[in-house]
Amino acid sequence: MIAFFNGEYLPKEEITISPDDRGFLFADGLYEVVLCVKGKPFCLREHLKRLGKGAMQLRFSSADFMWLEEVVQELLHKNGLERADAVVYMQLTRGAAPRNHPFPSKETPLTVYVFVRPFDQAEAEAARQRGIAAITVADQRWARCDLKSIGLTANILANQQAMEAGVGEAIFMRDGILLEGSHSNFAGVKDGKLVTFPACHRILDGVTRQQTLALASSLGIEVALEPIFVNELDNYDELMVLATTMKITPVVQLDGRQIGDGTPGSVVRRLQEGFRSLELQG
Ligand code: PDD
Repeated sequence: MIAFFNGEYLPKEEITISPDDRGFLFADGLYEVVLCVKGKPFCLREHLKRLGKGAMQLRFSSADFMWLEEVVQELLHKNGLERADAVVYMQLTRGAAPRNHPFPSKETPLTVYVFVRPFDQAEAEAARQRGIAAITVADQRWARCDLKSIGLTANILANQQAMEAGVGEAIFMRDGILLEGSHSNFAGVKDGKLVTFPACHRILDGVTRQQTLALASSLGIEVALEPIFVNELDNYDELMVLATTMKITPVVQLDGRQIGDGTPGSVVRRLQEGFRSLELQG
């Protein structure tokens, strides 16, 4: 596969990254994952805007990454994926410089890495149809979960725990509130309303989350941006996770307890259907 690295298109195996890269030494970087449906990147601009916003907040030397739109198109083309379902991964770091905590000199170029790979939607689609089970885990992350940082150790531990428990996702819990998944946002349906935690430093304001909230409003489904308390789960008829590759995936069991009748509910079905039309529009 051909990937993009610091201004060049190269076979992935020929890319070499400095051991002094701040991504490697400090996890001082940001990333994005974008889904391409039949070769069309879904909400690429929204992802690039978030990347720029994160770069600004981390005080990177540059905060405009809209030019990556062209890089993504070029990579899809160079890898023969113009009509395929594919995943784009983009990563920025503060560059390579001798290890010191303060920022490196202003001239240090950011490291920019982008790759694409084919994505078989079959497994994710099956999960969307039947729903997944999930577990709750303590939220051990830092207090800037709104940044899509490459520092994902707590997310990895949570996701591994889910895998070892034989379930599809781990939901981070803090102060009795179910915040978001290890690699997804989290929402529920209570009294016909779509409930999800408000965007703040405790969660990533996911692109899928934003699209789903807008979709819900357009379908006449009321939205409530408020906490989902674990001890109030009895009031919820449906739960779901929202993320780029998972899209809108129902959660039909949490910590071994059945949600609703144990099958995907009517609101999640309506949202999934609406989401499919959004994807077709591009
Ligand atoms: N994860 N919350 C967390 C912690 C995430 O890692 C993600 C995405 C989301 C959903 O964001 P979006 O809808 O913009 O994909 C929420 C990506 C896909 C990943 O780490 O692979």
